[in-house]
Amino acid sequence: MSERATAVAHSNIALIKYWGKRDEGIALPATSSVSLTLDAYSTRTTVEWGRDTDTAELDGAPLAGEAGARVTRFLDLVRSLAGRSDGASVISRNTVPTAAGLASSASGFAALAAAASSAAGLDLAPRELSILARKGSGSAARSIFGDLAVWFAGDDDASSFAEPVTDPGLDLAMVVAVVDAGVKTISSRAAMRLTAETSPYFPAWVDASRTDFTDMLAAIAASDFTRVGELTESNAMRMHASMLGATPPVSYWQPDSVRVLHLVRDLRSTGIECYATMDAGPNVKILCQRRRMESVRDAVTAAGITRVTTSLPGPGVAVSRDDE
Ligand code: PMV
Repeated sequence: MSERATAVAHSNIALIKYWGKRDEGIALPATSSVSLTLDAYSTRTTVEWGRDTDTAELDGAPLAGEAGARVTRFLDLVRSLAGRSDGASVISRNTVPTAAGLASSASGFAALAAAASSAAGLDLAPRELSILARKGSGSAARSIFGDLAVWFAGDDDASSFAEPVTDPGLDLAMVVAVVDAGVKTISSRAAMRLTAETSPYFPAWVDASRTDFTDMLAAIAASDFTRVGELTESNAMRMHASMLGATPPVSYWQPDSVRVLHLVRDLRSTGIECYATMDAGPNVKILCQRRRMESVRDAVTAAGITRVTTSLPGPGVAVSRDDE
């Protein structure tokens, strides 16, 4: 029997961010977060066990150095869960520009968790899969689920997982202004560590984000798009403020990022309701409702941003064993 499985996972963008760990060893976040899974960006990964050593390939090129070592460390977790010691081949394709702050690690590790565990014969429940994916990349815990997801910080390994949040009809969409699809200058892992260790604003970020999280769940339950949008934008700005306070300061912003942030504010003043969020990269993601998606996209394009992607909410991870 072949021990091969393929999984497709979609990336997610946090509306309430995860920034900073409480326990780096097992990837426990300092705060809980909320995200929207996007249909526009995904990773497809095939894993086959029974090899002498691990090999990993992304978009046709072998993963070497730290990227390859990270895959092997993740496969070690699957080996220990499944009680096996063989190697695996990992073949992955991204429709997300890798490491550009477009959540390629979220879709990447969610797909790897699902494919590697299924191919190894493990039949993990969604919650267990979310816990496993979290250890590859924190935000991957949320990409196990579609649409809106919440990741509870938890206080130990077993209580830090994501689960779906019922959307009572917010009709969300996202417009991504790709300011620069190049590889980021500092990884989110290194930047969040630096922020937590050196920024005097980090404790304030943690406090504010806890309140934002509770308020966001209430705004979603009330189907209050304006409140969801306001919280999304202010939470992202607070996260970036905490990074600016680090030593040395961390800034992912570029001039075009700021231009798009201003455009979003201007659009709101003309009645096109939309809100901005940014992650560990210069790209700006604009949250709006589906009926405004084209107007927002056209405005961003008219402002001279050449790569603009629109996205509706995407599905949770899907996996199939190749012997099925
Ligand atoms: O999953 P990581 O370790 O790449 O961290 C993601 C951090 C942010 O994208 C900036 C925020 C988030 O919650 O996704």
